[in-house]
Amino acid sequence: MDGSAAQARVSPGQRAPAVVRVPVSLRVNGSERRLEVDTRTTLLDALRDGLKLTGTKKGCDQGQCGACTVHVDGRRVLSCLTLAASADGREVRTIEGLEQDGTPHPLQEAFVRHDGLQCGYCTAGQIMSAVALIEEGRAGSDDEIREFMSGNLCRCGAYPNIVAAIREVAGRGDHA
Ligand code: FES
Ligand code: FES
Repeated sequence: MDGSAAQARVSPGQRAPAVVRVPVSLRVNGSERRLEVDTRTTLLDALRDGLKLTGTKKGCDQGQCGACTVHVDGRRVLSCLTLAASADGREVRTIEGLEQDGTPHPLQEAFVRHDGLQCGYCTAGQIMSAVALIEEGRAGSDDEIREFMSGNLCRCGAYPNIVAAIREVAGRGDHA
């Protein structure tokens, strides 16, 4: 995408719009976090740049790849399409919040066991989507897993192994 397309267009002689900053309070992975953001700041940038939670990845930054998936109030969202200000007062869960007392989440372990990653860039988003998918009861078959994971792209093509990892954690063993 042409980078200039994402910038606000200001004609010659016209003033750039004033930056408006607002306080935002998020409950991130169980901890209260406060920050001040430009009203245009995405939740993705607030997490990565504001709170230094860089496990959540920026892929396309326009809602097409799923790399930035996090949970807000228990539902998966694309954090690149979510304004940080709109998450004020909400519960946010990121990949950093999945482990419990140093023990990885079962899906994190299953992704390793099944080689559900190659370069790993999409993996945080894949796992956050997979956690939600299982909680939503959408892992009843491989077709269902594929359908409800279809918003998470993997350029390395690790899809069969990702499905195998989710299938295992969903309690369906190694059967297709
Ligand atoms: S970075 Fe958000 S969908 Fe690609
Ligand atoms: S593991 Fe490389 S993009 Fe998915």
